[in-house]
This record gives sequence, structure tokens and C-alpha cells, in this order.
Amino acid sequence: MILLWEIDTAVDPALLTLMQTAADCALHMEGVRRKCAVSVRLCDDDTIHEINREFRGIDRATDVLSFPMINYPQGVTAGKADKLLRQALDDELNACMLGDLIISVPHALAQAEEYGHSPEREAAYLLVHGICHLMGYDHIDPDDQRRMRAMEEKILNAVGMSRDEQQQISDETLLALAVSARERSYSPYSGYAVGAALLSADGRVFQGCNIENASFGLTNCAERTAMFKALSEGATEFTAIAISAESSAPWPCGACRQVLNEFAPDIRVLVTWGDHVEEAPLSALLPHGFGPKSLA
Ligand code: THU
Repeated sequence: MILLWEIDTAVDPALLTLMQTAADCALHMEGVRRKCAVSVRLCDDDTIHEINREFRGIDRATDVLSFPMINYPQGVTAGKADKLLRQALDDELNACMLGDLIISVPHALAQAEEYGHSPEREAAYLLVHGICHLMGYDHIDPDDQRRMRAMEEKILNAVGMSRDEQQQISDETLLALAVSARERSYSPYSGYAVGAALLSADGRVFQGCNIENASFGLTNCAERTAMFKALSEGATEFTAIAISAESSAPWPCGACRQVLNEFAPDIRVLVTWGDHVEEAPLSALLPHGFGPKSLA
């Protein structure tokens, strides 16, 4: 999922990373296999109040507002509306535009405190709630509301943000997040897009893609993008990495094996291409590796 951010207020960047992951997961759980985009504006209470008054005639601030671009028939959601998604294709973005979300950051943070859960859970929840609306879910009648709640919980569970905030994400989700990360690959020279999703021991997921350069040697692989993002956000231990390419097994290159070995010599490496999934421990991919212990 492409998130087009418009950020008018101070916000912890870690929340943005989590929201990206939750957005990718939402499409996966809904069964949407097309590249989609949503614009997300993060603002303060005065701004959301004004938008609520102007567009909905409701004279108060709120946590999240959604403005869908697609008119789904009653009872139909994005996973079953491929034709409608195709009609919403934005040529410039090369993605189906689902609509706009407005989220009040101070409202979200106050709500998190009131409900006694983390800002992360609240940010993920509001984004997922809004995206569910943009995918055709509603909560006007009780049956619809149950369906929407069930989908929201499914998505939040998958990113480890369920109510108890304890659940670890599954291999299936990690693989799906590697597939989504590939959408953001910058690989005009090789045409070989790679996505990675790295799971840290504290439950966070860091996505990465390959980023090429006209000066070819400066290319950064997807795995190292994910690893460097994670390390720079303070993650120190890692349990699994999923890597995705379109049509051949994306086992990590030698440089990436060496970098993974530095921080996670026992990490599980999962690769996926087409319908295939394979797994090997890093220790099998880099036997007799040279690492920090070698210098001790
Ligand atoms: N690539 C990765 O992202 N990960 C690997 O482990 C192997 C290769 C990328 C780098 C380059 O952008 C493209 O794949 C072709 O080599």
C-alpha cells in the first residue's frame, strides 16, 4: 500500500512505520492483491474539527475521518470488488486510489491514555479502522459492525497489535509484509524488485526494499535496508526475516548474509517467490561465518 502522507503536526516516526505495516497487512487480510494507495493526513483537533464541520456537518473534533473514493455496493468490500478497484487506478501512482484519511494525532494520543493502551495500538487501530471504511466496511447496522470489527481485529492481530498487544506475528504475515515492501522497490536498472520484512525479538517488523542507483555499486539490497532501518530504530535482536521477489528464489546475497550474521547469526530466513516459500537458518546459508566472535 502506498501511503501519501500529509503531516501537519509533530508525530513519533515509529508510529508512521507501524501504520505503513498495518496498511500493508490490511490489504493482505482483505485479499486485495493489487497495489493500492491512500492519502493520510495527520493533523490537530482544530483541523479535524473544521473538516468534520465542513464535509459532514458535525461540529466537533473526532479521531479519524475517512473519505472513500470507491462506491461499493451494499455488502461488498474491496477483496470482492476487483473491477471497482481497477476503475480507481491512478496512472501516475500506478496504484488504485482508495481514498483519504484524516487522523487527529492529539485525539489519538488522548484516547490511548483514556483506554489504557499504547499510542502504537491506537495509531494502528485508527489507521486500520479508516482503511476498513475505504475498503467498503461500515458500522451502521449491527451485522455490518460485527464484520468490520472482525476484520479490524484480524488485521491488528496480524501485526501484533491485538488488544493484549502480546501476540507475535505469524510467518504468513511476515511473508505478506515482504511482498508489500517490494511495491516500494526502486530497481529501474535490474528490474528485479525485492522486498523484506524483518521481525525483531520485541515484536516490531521492519520492512525494506532494494534501492538501486545510477552508480550501480551503490545499490542497497532489501535485507540490508530492513536491517539498517531496524538498527537505527533501536532494535537489537532479530528472530526472522522474510524476503520476496517475483519470479526466482531471493536467497540473500553474500553481503546481506554477512550483515545478518553480524546481528542475528541464528535468524530464520524465509524466501518467497510466486507461490513458493522456502526456509533455512542463516547458519546454513553462511557456514563457518566470520563475525564479532571471530575478533574476540
Ligand atoms: N538484491 C536484493 O535486494 N537482495 C539480495 O539479497 C540480492 C539482490 C537486489 C539488488 C539489486 O537491486 C537487484 O536485486 C539485482 O541484483
